[in-house]
Amino acid sequence: MSIDLEVWVEKYRPADFDEIVSQNIAVNNLKSFVKDKFDMPHMIFAGPAGTGKTSTALIIANKLLKKDKYYRNVLELNASDTVRMKFVREKLNDFVNQNMILTENELKIVILDEADNIPKTVQQTLRRIIESAPTNVKFILMCNYINQIIDPIVSRCAVFRFVSLPKEKVVEKLKYIAQQEDLSIPKEREKEFFDTLYFISSGDLRKAINTLQMAVSLELLKDLNIDEILKISGFIENAVFINLKTALLDGHFLKAREIFTSIDYLDSRNFIRQLMQLIPDLHEMGNIEKSELISYFGDIDYYISQGGDEEIQLTSLLAEIATKKKV
Ligand SMILES: Nc1ncnc2c1ncn2[C@@H]1O[C@H](COP(=O)(O)OP(=O)(O)OP(=O)(O)O)[C@@H](O)[C@H]1O
Ligand SMILES: [Mg+2]
Repeated sequence: MSIDLEVWVEKYRPADFDEIVSQNIAVNNLKSFVKDKFDMPHMIFAGPAGTGKTSTALIIANKLLKKDKYYRNVLELNASDTVRMKFVREKLNDFVNQNMILTENELKIVILDEADNIPKTVQQTLRRIIESAPTNVKFILMCNYINQIIDPIVSRCAVFRFVSLPKEKVVEKLKYIAQQEDLSIPKEREKEFFDTLYFISSGDLRKAINTLQMAVSLELLKDLNIDEILKISGFIENAVFINLKTALLDGHFLKAREIFTSIDYLDSRNFIRQLMQLIPDLHEMGNIEKSELISYFGDIDYYISQGGDEEIQLTSLLAEIATKKKV
């Protein structure tokens, strides 16, 4: 099979509003905003990765600007471009003010990706540029965490919230791509395959599509090697997971620890997500204990994100599951 060089997330990027799935509230509001381009507010698209923010910004830019104007009138920057204050100031001021006379009746759009990673001091500069920009210049900021954007910017923008895609929408899109690309997925394992891709993606459609494409280019579809797909995505394979699960459900901490230490590749936060799948199987545990355990999962995830030793944290989590089980 020849390896397709085209990147599917680009090939299947939505080209119009009605191809954006699951973001009805944001998209419906947007449609009415972009009718009159000079009245359009500055905007912030906030939400998890791979939910359609960049796609939506590109649709707006394409709708409002004719092809020949696009390159002159759209400026796309991401956070790594914005680390240096001087660069931001010069680049944005140049863009906003260039050909003032020529373009005063033309819409110009600044698309700022990963705006939540822009240092706060640079955000202050950005705020002043937004404030003083002429009305034909509109800013679209994109971020995962809106609380990382300074209030004076947020209050100058209309905020649109993007949500994680539900399983059926992710699977629907993956099936569509599989059909377009003529992939042959063994019928009897189709559900397991798409369930796994969704699990890996946790609602991030970009990750789901990329994993599908990676599985195809590594030729993992022929014998449908789901374990390998989990592995290359930073999760532990099902066989190992099932052993670990049995040890934990039997309350055998030492056995569970032995399996855990034998895993040679581990992405701790993925591992936590995989372990969370166990909770519904803890039948003997009461609801209060289950809630306590979920809260413990949250603590461990947090400690790891703050630099806590992964092995110590994860071992402690395994101990908690194994011992709670015996209560
Ligand atoms: N809501 C959606 N509807 C249809 N396709 C989507 C949607 N969200 C994501 N996709 C698909 O995933 C790819 C990535 O989406 P996009 O770049 O818009 O995500 P994003 O929200 O900007 O993510 P990030 O925060 O990581 O930048 C798109 O090319 C598209 O194929
Ligand atoms: Mg994006």
